[in-house]
Amino acid sequence: MNKNAIYYLLNNTPKTKNTSLFEFANMAIAASVFNYHNSLPNYSPTPLVQLANLADHLGLKEILVKDESQRFDLNAFKVLGASFAIGRYLAEFLKLKEGDFNFSEIHEQKSKYEHITFVTATDGNHGRAVAWAAKLFGCKSVVYMPKGSSLTRLEAIKNYDADAAITQMNYDDTVAYANQKAEEEGWVLIQDTAWQGYEKIPRHIMQGYLTLLTEYMNQGPEIWPTHIFVQAGVGSLAAAILAQLCNLSNKAMPEFIVVEAQGAPCLIESKRQNKLYQVEGDLPTIMAGLACGKPSQTAWDIVNSAATAFIACDDDITRKGMRVLGNPLAGDQSIISGESGAVTLGVLFEIMSNKDFSKIKNDLNLNAESTVLLFSTEGDTDPDVYRDIVSGNSWS
Ligand SMILES: Cc1ncc(COP(=O)(O)O)c(C=O)c1O
Repeated sequence: MNKNAIYYLLNNTPKTKNTSLFEFANMAIAASVFNYHNSLPNYSPTPLVQLANLADHLGLKEILVKDESQRFDLNAFKVLGASFAIGRYLAEFLKLKEGDFNFSEIHEQKSKYEHITFVTATDGNHGRAVAWAAKLFGCKSVVYMPKGSSLTRLEAIKNYDADAAITQMNYDDTVAYANQKAEEEGWVLIQDTAWQGYEKIPRHIMQGYLTLLTEYMNQGPEIWPTHIFVQAGVGSLAAAILAQLCNLSNKAMPEFIVVEAQGAPCLIESKRQNKLYQVEGDLPTIMAGLACGKPSQTAWDIVNSAATAFIACDDDITRKGMRVLGNPLAGDQSIISGESGAVTLGVLFEIMSNKDFSKIKNDLNLNAESTVLLFSTEGDTDPDVYRDIVSGNSWS
């Protein structure tokens, strides 16, 4: 592996005492978000997979992976955010009690809200989630994708009756376009990134993501991680999990590492430059879900104040992660993990097994006492690409 395949920055910002930043992810809110998800038809938690032999192979105590390829029939975690934000919006529209609403309470008043259209911009997973949730509640959806988006992912979105199209713009310009269309047409923008003046719905999307850690705590309470690696596009997922951890006063705080694609390193660059930084251009990476040039403002404030480190890695790292997860050591379970899903395992594998990266391993205190929690955030959302990368048994 190329020596520059991974670069990193430790976060030397003192841990913030500003608890208001984390308030949106407190334990009471996480519990009510979980109750809401639990009320959705066919809800069940995604599996927590323990890779004991891989942990042994890499010199770690435990590796645990939440397998989001099993999230409803959507092959990715994103629906946790979109379904909560849409449910929350409709509950408010119907004037239901805040923090205490469920799917059937909303759905039985469908005739009052079914004229509403939800719109979003997406690389694929979020748009599929918005289309799925809009259809579930009986509303319409419009989805715009950046240029170069996968036709397979476009079709997967259309399958949920969305009016979906690929634009000639990059991700960030597509978001601006969706916002403009929402204003012109009177549609509701369900975007998974925040900017000044547009914070409420992204906050609800982040609250939806809290169910990932809530499920983990229900599934593995006796195994508490020393390290958590989370992949980031705009940073909303990482920030939601980090904020939730900061609210768990009775648990030791794990080292929290944010992982990005080198083709779209907006958080690590924001850290380096100590201000919100936008990466311009086409954002070249196979990790489509992480191909975002501009951090979410809310997410940035949170990860900047509480993450341990930022890592950026090239596409070969995630290819390695996909192969290792797809072709596991004997005795470990296989996980189908897509380009954006496998990058954290790829990073962990390389840091632990390649001497070129031993400084990172030491700086992050990764050793035989470490229990690492990862989120395989998507399955084979583009099956042809997945097959090309994972075919055969080789890890190289
Ligand atoms: C599979 C997958 N993983 C991770 C992410 C990153 O999430 P965020 O943009 O909130 O950082 C995305 C975003 O779309 C994604 O699709």
